[in-house]
Amino acid sequence: MSNEKFKGQAGEVFWESPANIALVKYWGKYPGQLPMNPSLSFTLRESVVRIRMKYAPAGNGPGGLHSFALNGQPNDKFRARISKYIDSMKAHYAFLNDFGLDIESQSTFPHSAGIASSAAAFSALAMALGSIENELAGKTGMGSDFLQKASFASRLGSGSACRSVYGGFTVWGKSEHLLGSSDDFAVKLADESIHPAFRNLQDAVLIVDDSEKKVSSTAGHALMNGHDFRESRIAQSEKNLCSMLHALKTGDEDLFVNIVENEALTLHGLMMSSRPGYILIKPGTIALIEKIRDFRQQHTINICFTLDAGPNIHLVYLDKDAHRVRPFIQQELLPMCKNRRWMDDGVGAGPKKK
Ligand code: DP6
Repeated sequence: MSNEKFKGQAGEVFWESPANIALVKYWGKYPGQLPMNPSLSFTLRESVVRIRMKYAPAGNGPGGLHSFALNGQPNDKFRARISKYIDSMKAHYAFLNDFGLDIESQSTFPHSAGIASSAAAFSALAMALGSIENELAGKTGMGSDFLQKASFASRLGSGSACRSVYGGFTVWGKSEHLLGSSDDFAVKLADESIHPAFRNLQDAVLIVDDSEKKVSSTAGHALMNGHDFRESRIAQSEKNLCSMLHALKTGDEDLFVNIVENEALTLHGLMMSSRPGYILIKPGTIALIEKIRDFRQQHTINICFTLDAGPNIHLVYLDKDAHRVRPFIQQELLPMCKNRRWMDDGVGAGPKKK
């Protein structure tokens, strides 16, 4: 494709895209960012990355990333990762060979704290690339093909990002338990697969520690190669996916809680039992887990916790229980959080074009 064709075409797109929280965890991958096991997540509402992507013909220079700023500041670390990603996308979005991009990005949550900022960022980038491709081709539709390509492209940036392209609940990774599931992109679970009790799940993200984590997810995934529990983890994730799909469909709260916590503790158990093993949870994480379990037992309210690759707790609860859970968060859990920090989040509708 030559830049003659696009001469004079320049413009900008704005996208907002959310993080997601996995209930069945993606942990371990093959080359090409293909998952070792299937995962299931819901997309968040409040934890988002907003990007403004300006595009203009690159003239005689190479196409690709020209500038990048994060929260108004240049950021060399992210710039290098995004530049590499944009170059790799030339194979999928041909216009990138001829256009330069200036990207400004802002996020509503701390980076590298075990909240999937990369999922929000890479899904936002992929949605923006797709809509520029559309604009240059004079198309407007953002139907299922658009979303599938965006999910595929997000995955190549960060595996879990492919699940953020859709609102609600999504599955990534081929599994015999879900028709149409794929390793290449995520698929959205149909509304009728989610019991009304679960459609508006709440997620209180309780900040135990927001410092940069010592071991990246990418390094953690690599340690699954040759992990002593690799094969049993793959089998367990399939079993848990099957149970989770059943719980979500039938509204089985006990099963739901069981699987969510089993997956969270398994993830961190796999980290601890890697060679070398490492620990991302903190004493504050354990203290919160104990509080949450005590509350569940005493009040017979089905709240549960999950964890991303970090020490912060995602307290997951049903909206019908909010009037009882929220005072518990305020009075008992926030004093245990770093500077009382938390994010009041829940199931969201997916990326938005601004
Ligand atoms: C623990 O998607 O961040 O959050 O593919 O290397 O970018 P890369 O890893 P990433 O891994 C996330 C793992 C997890 C579980 C999950 O989201 O499923």
